[in-house]
Amino acid sequence: MTLSSPLVPIKTPRDLRSLKKNWGNPSGLVPTMGALHEGHIQLIRHAASTAEEVIVSIFVNPTQFADNEDLESYPRNLASDIEMAQLAGATQIFVPNVKDLYPNGFSTYVVPCGPLVERWEGKSRPYLFRGVCTVVFKLFQIIQPTFAIFGQKDFQQLQVVRQMVSDLDLQVEIHAIPTVREEDGLAMSSRNTYLDSKERKAAPLLFQTLQQAVVIIQNDPKQNLEVLSQTLIRQLNSVPQIKIDYLGFVDAESLQPVSQFNGNVCLMVAAFVGKTRLIDNLLIQTK
Ligand code: PAJ
Repeated sequence: MTLSSPLVPIKTPRDLRSLKKNWGNPSGLVPTMGALHEGHIQLIRHAASTAEEVIVSIFVNPTQFADNEDLESYPRNLASDIEMAQLAGATQIFVPNVKDLYPNGFSTYVVPCGPLVERWEGKSRPYLFRGVCTVVFKLFQIIQPTFAIFGQKDFQQLQVVRQMVSDLDLQVEIHAIPTVREEDGLAMSSRNTYLDSKERKAAPLLFQTLQQAVVIIQNDPKQNLEVLSQTLIRQLNSVPQIKIDYLGFVDAESLQPVSQFNGNVCLMVAAFVGKTRLIDNLLIQTK
């Protein structure tokens, strides 16, 4: 497929608001931080399959990074992102500057709290969900899409966004897309480009371990998941490139730890592979 005419990105909320009047309905938003890969592309394709207008936002959101994280080095490939997004079905690309979304004096944040954010990513990265909710709320306000699409790869983020939409009565449907993986099972991520060759070889062990856990539980659904998680952590930590941040079985709705399989469990993992922090998860459900 060739591109008819390349999309010109919309740069400011003001421009977006004035152009939006002529847009088709329904509209689907795919929020991203760019460095697009096949995971993002699946989200865009899903949006294009149901929406008249498909808006892809590309914004490396500084408020969701802590000072010691990779904001500066986060991969940025705007030209190829625009081309890939358009090929996948995007009809509008929104690429605001930091000053457009966070002007001088910006001081109002959407801060999720409670059990959904106290553990896992919310504990390891205390600024993450405040930044995510603030920027996603702003994108919803500016774009006012009929629906927005998120990946199950960031499972806690998906649940936190759903909770925000429910708590704040936001008029947007949330759609979720399963994790897209490399052939060897590694969950696609913009951060995979940081891995050297030894780390890249070790990284699929995360997903293989999640799959191994599913088999173990299928064979013995009554076993203690707390004990199993400790075994899996020891196993992964024995690989020189891997250092587990957390690994836990949680109720797939509440994200609270469970010690018994209840029919709807998510196994969540975060690990440093070398210096790169990767996350993955697998839903374990009764068929
Ligand atoms: P980013 O990491 O760019 O991801 C954008 C969207 O793509 C998220 O919904 C994420 O879950 C989804 N995604 C990433 N990798 C995926 C994969 N392998 N399979 C399926 N979906 C995948 O997540 C963010 O950006 C930001 O936090 C954002 C929501 C844009 C707010 O700044």
